[in-house]
Amino acid sequence: MTRLHNEVGLDAYWMPFTANRAFKANPRLLVSASGTRYRADDGREVLDGISGLWCCNAGHGHPRIVDAIARQAAELDYATAFQVGHPKVFTLAERLADMAPGDLDAVFFTNSGSESVDTSLKIALAYHHARGESERTRFVGRERGYHGAGFGGTSVGGIANNRKHFGPLLPGVLHLPQTYDHEHQAFSRGQPEWGAHLADELERIVAVNHASTIAAVIVEPFAGSAGVLVPPVGYLERLREITAKHGILLIFDEVITAFGRLGAPFAAERFGVVPDLITLAKGLTSGMVPMGAVLARGEIRDTIIEAAPDAIELFHGYTYSGHPVAAAAGHAALDVYRDEGLFEQSRSLEPVLENALHGLRSKPHVRDIRNIGLVGAVELEPRPGEPTARATEAFGRAFDRGILVRTTADIIALAPPLIVEEDEIATLVEVLGEVLDGLD
Ligand SMILES: Cc1ncc(COP(=O)(O)O)c(C=O)c1O
Repeated sequence: MTRLHNEVGLDAYWMPFTANRAFKANPRLLVSASGTRYRADDGREVLDGISGLWCCNAGHGHPRIVDAIARQAAELDYATAFQVGHPKVFTLAERLADMAPGDLDAVFFTNSGSESVDTSLKIALAYHHARGESERTRFVGRERGYHGAGFGGTSVGGIANNRKHFGPLLPGVLHLPQTYDHEHQAFSRGQPEWGAHLADELERIVAVNHASTIAAVIVEPFAGSAGVLVPPVGYLERLREITAKHGILLIFDEVITAFGRLGAPFAAERFGVVPDLITLAKGLTSGMVPMGAVLARGEIRDTIIEAAPDAIELFHGYTYSGHPVAAAAGHAALDVYRDEGLFEQSRSLEPVLENALHGLRSKPHVRDIRNIGLVGAVELEPRPGEPTARATEAFGRAFDRGILVRTTADIIALAPPLIVEEDEIATLVEVLGEVLDGLD
């Protein structure tokens, strides 16, 4: 078979977060997808173990979402979101507000997780300004946090490689310690018991900087991109307590965790902790059309709107905020999640993935296995002097054997679509085990 990459030039496309030279020396092209499967350009099926990139929660090519997108593009392809609206964006906002925990009933649309994060940081600043507390400008992120690739998200993020070439970033950003500790948490199933006290570091940050200078704390309920770091029991509760005590907003970056990944609409619901703002993207449209959103407590929106002397209250937004095609995809994705019971299915598959994955414990090089919801990770011992090499090789071999996984450092993550079947979970884990067996 003629492979597509022999026909298309690979040079012009500068690939994001990719080792371009390595990719172009050994390209992997996907040409179609349906359900839990991709097809590669050599005709092979590839089982999707990572929901595209933590986003295709309803699987690929779901006909209801495809149909909604096609109809919407034909009916109303685009309408500006500035001073003009269209019905579906209002109804989608209402649905999200109804699903959201607590009083998070204001919805601001964006086009990606990165934009949602930057938007949430700006809303936090605007809110404090509207309340006459403009000196609250600092943000607190966390080591190993990933909040997208914008300057705001990169600043509050805590992954050194993502930050090192980009100068001083936003001023006044501080970081909590990460929550992972191998000694106390290795091979935890679900939330580790140890580590709630790490949230107390926020009290130290407050003591040094004074609460009146801190606008918001932003964390992922579980850190996905840095390698599936599951919050210790009581940790998020503690963050909530401390932020509330000091008038600091708490932002949950739920770009990965919302829409069923943890067997609930939002991680906030799963963990029983209600933040002030939630960032969304990915599963909002099941990854079919780019769309993101920020959910905010109604009081935050009302305060900003009421305090503004200008006609426009928040000078922020995007050309494609609430794009009609994305809004249609969002509605259809929410319909599918509801009608097919996918959040419940995710919850019921959690022990299946957990048991299968922890069965890899005795495989070569395994340093840790952890899981929560429909997410799991196998952390490997790095090769001496060659960090990331072992997992990168595992990724390539897994792809060659027909499964798509995601790696970061020496950690291999699995987060299959919520429609995944039990035997597909078994296949993912079995193939991964064989790959580990064959690694040096
Ligand atoms: C927690 C979190 N926030 C933000 C983002 C950035 O989203 P996007 O790539 O859509 O900008 C990601 C992406 O993986 C993420 O995991």
